[in-house]
Amino acid sequence: SVSDEAGPGTQRASSRAGGVRGVPGAGAPESERFAEIGLRFEVDGEIATITLDRPERRNAQTFATWSALAEIGRTLPEQVRVVVVRGEGPSFSAGIDLRMFTPEGVPGQGSFAAEAVLDDETFERHVKEFQQGFLWLRDPGIVSVAAVQGHAIGAGFQLALACDLRILAEDAKLCMKEPALGLVPDLTGTKPLVDLVGLSRAVEICLTARVVDAGEAARIGLAERVVPAGELRAATRELATALLATDRAAAAATKRLLQQAAHHTIEEQAAAERAAQAVRVRALFRGAVDGG
Ligand code: ACO
Repeated sequence: SVSDEAGPGTQRASSRAGGVRGVPGAGAPESERFAEIGLRFEVDGEIATITLDRPERRNAQTFATWSALAEIGRTLPEQVRVVVVRGEGPSFSAGIDLRMFTPEGVPGQGSFAAEAVLDDETFERHVKEFQQGFLWLRDPGIVSVAAVQGHAIGAGFQLALACDLRILAEDAKLCMKEPALGLVPDLTGTKPLVDLVGLSRAVEICLTARVVDAGEAARIGLAERVVPAGELRAATRELATALLATDRAAAAATKRLLQQAAHHTIEEQAAAERAAQAVRVRALFRGAVDGG
């Protein structure tokens, strides 16, 4: 029932304080280990920034990148409300590191050859862990923003799709390249793509593996904003700051409601709104009533 959904949902939101992320001693992600993978993670007050930082390879990603993203999600400092995902250099990300397709792969960071000999269960367990690196970006307790310049190809496009919002530079080029390479997009990108552009457009984009430029992206719902390349940094910062304007608990509850809306009837959604508002009103006014 709707009230059942609202119940545990509310608990999940509040469990963030004492949940996985708040595990005492979990510690901050290790910057040196991340640097080797080509990732940076920085926290400035309530805003965290994840930077793909291997510009000489156009921020190509490996299995290690995705495990590190999962680790960041698991250990995200409690105060963080906005997560910016960006890329250093001319491109957001050229997708999976093409060395992963070679027999030797990327030293210490995996190869498809090694994955291909695994049984289904082990293989899927690995991919499930990689997908965790993308899924946490939808947590109701945060808002994630992808800042995309240049190419966002394959895994790069999917990382942008994993975020709640996308702000694109005018030179952004999005491309779901996986089917052209004999693969499927499996880093959680297919659902947000269909949700945003519809099934027909998603089929067309994926099965042609064509480039979607920034103007088209804005028109078809893949970008909230398009800005000149030189303004991407400042515009992202401005959006991140604007997202801090609302009450934290109300923002989390509202994001949860919005996420449920597409799967609910109007009546179910109305019930979910009532249940969420009961929690808000109690939190805001019970003290006043008790006191008076
Ligand atoms: N993996 C590893 N290295 C890469 C990758 C990649 N995906 N993309 C770029 N690089 C490297 C290049 O090899 C080159 O290295 P070099 O300087 O040692 O020669 C360097 O990054 C710069 O790349 P260029 O191609 O010179 O840069 P350009 O700006 O002309 O083109 C582009 C950028 C379009 C992204 C091009 O590099 C490209 O097509 N890359 C491959 C994209 C791809 O097919 N990704 C896989 C998608 S599927 C998936 O993600 C699951």
